[in-house]
Amino acid sequence: MGIFTKNIETFDDLFLHQLQDLYYAENKITKKLPGMIAKATNRDLVAGLKAHLEETKGHVERLEQIFKKLGKKPESTDCPAIDGIIKEADEVSGEIADKEVLDAAIIASAQAVEHYEITKYGTLISWAYSLGHDAVIGLLVATLKEEEAADKKLTAVAEDKGVNRKAAS
Ligand SMILES: [Fe+2]
Ligand SMILES: [Fe+2]
Repeated sequence: MGIFTKNIETFDDLFLHQLQDLYYAENKITKKLPGMIAKATNRDLVAGLKAHLEETKGHVERLEQIFKKLGKKPESTDCPAIDGIIKEADEVSGEIADKEVLDAAIIASAQAVEHYEITKYGTLISWAYSLGHDAVIGLLVATLKEEEAADKKLTAVAEDKGVNRKAAS
């Protein structure tokens, strides 16, 4: 089901489409993070990515709960945006030999993913209010808070834990 077909007629259809898009993205991120963890060197970065992998598995579960509360089956729809972010991350990291520069690149890619998730959850929360889907707002907010915290933690690892400084030296 593509966004430009006539399958999306109502605002509720659009809300469901965005949920399916995020379900695809969260599952994709769950599969992608172990590879990023394997490539990372900085201990704080590895620990942060591992912690967020566990949280991301929880995001998939929360989306499944949301589908259930809405009386829908969990389904994915292709998300070219997350595929593109991941493709770019792979291309860039494949070009980098220096481990410290690679850590900085991994942080940049991970933050692009977090920002994508933050914009999607932000929109879904706003739409859930408008559509009266009050029962799912708490679940969406819980995940949004974890995405925002993961993003802040990545900034701290880059700036306070020396990743950018080491990459620059
Ligand atoms: Fe997530
Ligand atoms: Fe995330």
